Amino acid sequence: MVRVSFRVNGEPVELDVKPNELLLNTLREKLGLTSVKYGCGIGECGNCTVLVNGEPVLACLTLTVDVDGCEVLTVEGLSKGGLTRVQKAFIEEGAVQCGYCTPAFILMAEFLVRSKQEPSIDDVREYLKGVLCRCTGYVNIFKAVLKASESGRGREKVDKG
Ligand code: FES
Ligand code: FES
Repeated sequence: MVRVSFRVNGEPVELDVKPNELLLNTLREKLGLTSVKYGCGIGECGNCTVLVNGEPVLACLTLTVDVDGCEVLTVEGLSKGGLTRVQKAFIEEGAVQCGYCTPAFILMAEFLVRSKQEPSIDDVREYLKGVLCRCTGYVNIFKAVLKASESGRGREKVDKG
């Protein structure tokens, strides 16, 4: 076993893990962060996306030992202070069906609105292309992300409290 220390959603975590333990399993099974979804397990569906030091990472292809010293963000942490503009836009635009893919889309959308002030629809397609939704078309998801990024204010939190 290997001792790892990192932060998850702003909280310090210290765990003993197997050298080959996947971040997906650590987050879901040891830390109870079930917003991180298992889809394909081989890096193709994007449903296990989390942000590590602010960058998107596939938790099914990432070893937990490799996030030692890092900051990991999942949707549970994103929502701590209330819904973000992205989350609110997903609700308003009806961009959720079964919701299985939604945490990954939300995190990728957060990454986009933090990275680009006024993304185009092509930017939205490009950033979100790695996440697959098996329920629906992507139109409402794209609309929600564009709405959230209006005025480049997507990173701001809304609906506090
Ligand atoms: S479960 Fe990680 S990419 Fe599909
Ligand atoms: S809403 Fe069901 S998989 Fe995307």
